[in-house]
Amino acid sequence: MGEQLAIHGGPKTIPDGTIKPWPPIDETDRKMVLASLDVDNHAVGPNCGAFAKEFAAWNGNRFAHTVNSGTAALHMAVAACGCGAGDEVIVPAYSWSSSVSCVLHNNAIPVFVDIDFDTMNIDVNKIEAAITERTKAIIAVHLHGLSVEMDPVLDIAKRHGLRVIEDACQGHAALYRGRKSGTWGDCAAFSCNHNKLLCAGTGGMFVTNDEDLFERGQALGSFGETREPIDDPDYHAYAKAWMYYNNDLSASLGRAQLAKLDGYLECIQQNVAVFAAGLADVPHIILPTVPEECHHNWYNYTLRFDMDALGHAGAPRAFRDKIVAALAAEGVPFGVWQQFVLPEMTVFQAKNAYGKACPWSCPNAEPVNYALEQYPMAKRHCETHTCLVTPLRPPNGTDVAEMLAAGVRKVMDSVTQLDA
Ligand SMILES: Cc1ncc(COP(=O)(O)O)c(C=O)c1O
Repeated sequence: MGEQLAIHGGPKTIPDGTIKPWPPIDETDRKMVLASLDVDNHAVGPNCGAFAKEFAAWNGNRFAHTVNSGTAALHMAVAACGCGAGDEVIVPAYSWSSSVSCVLHNNAIPVFVDIDFDTMNIDVNKIEAAITERTKAIIAVHLHGLSVEMDPVLDIAKRHGLRVIEDACQGHAALYRGRKSGTWGDCAAFSCNHNKLLCAGTGGMFVTNDEDLFERGQALGSFGETREPIDDPDYHAYAKAWMYYNNDLSASLGRAQLAKLDGYLECIQQNVAVFAAGLADVPHIILPTVPEECHHNWYNYTLRFDMDALGHAGAPRAFRDKIVAALAAEGVPFGVWQQFVLPEMTVFQAKNAYGKACPWSCPNAEPVNYALEQYPMAKRHCETHTCLVTPLRPPNGTDVAEMLAAGVRKVMDSVTQLDA
């Protein structure tokens, strides 16, 4: 039996105010955001173009276009790849909902593939069995900042004539064989929302090396026009489209943060090394697995509780929630990220996105099956995971990482007290 837990009246491991919020804001951010107020165009102002150009150079893409969210960038990618009515798009059964709502946004039909429990990414060995003659694309989500193993995905895509879209919303500088996410597929989407490693308040980036895809993606996010709004638009909708522009203020913050991103990433690696070392012999937790070819950016540090080793025979979710509450009481802000297997969500079980069962009832479509027993690994993950998103990032340092690990150890040493 360990020290008395804070949830039972014992001392708190991490005092209030110790963990600093994300992202660090300094004079560079303030200067750039204030300077944005002086530009002539607060919508598509000069910071938007500069942000896209600098991001493309940082990530190694020929083309980048900044938009108002990662979700928008994903929709542009799906549309640019020509996924439409009756087409099927393969997506992992566990991710943020935008990884799949983007498919519905273009009237296409998602087909879910279970995750690999160890990497938490799509199980690349199960993709091929999900392909039909209607499959148009695979969405590879680099979840939590760990790249999908892209070689097998690209090989399958090549053999079946499919497009590959990367959901790199969490994948800034997540490497596979030394190369950055967002440079492997036909096109990719990044998020720059508040929690992301590159924070522009809110915002996203659509990237590709293919000029044709770039123009098609841009047109979708720009009222269906085929020209950049700043270059003499003719205000003609050549196709159905949305309005996904970013704005100058957001892009100015994004630029300031981008200049500091490599430094942040280095600090996160140091913090995670200390945190992981502190957890190495903590019982009953499953630490994240990083395949040899991958370099994790640790956007989200996710643990799973080993319910078998804990000897917990009841509902895993309820016990997990008790452990998370005990961690929170210690000042260790682990949370639960996505609670649901994606196909479990109402819109998929009801198969009714646009009313009248569309898009599943499209005359070009064939029935798809979302029976939940097809996704056992995603289910096990949902019920047993907990995650830490921003506390391992700067301005927090290795001292905070040590305290976080100490809090986890304290709770896990007394975890049986929680299983009442
Ligand atoms: C994996 C993943 N895809 C897509 C998105 C959507 O990004 P945004 O919130 O910028 O629309 C997110 C954001 O949370 C995400 O984590």
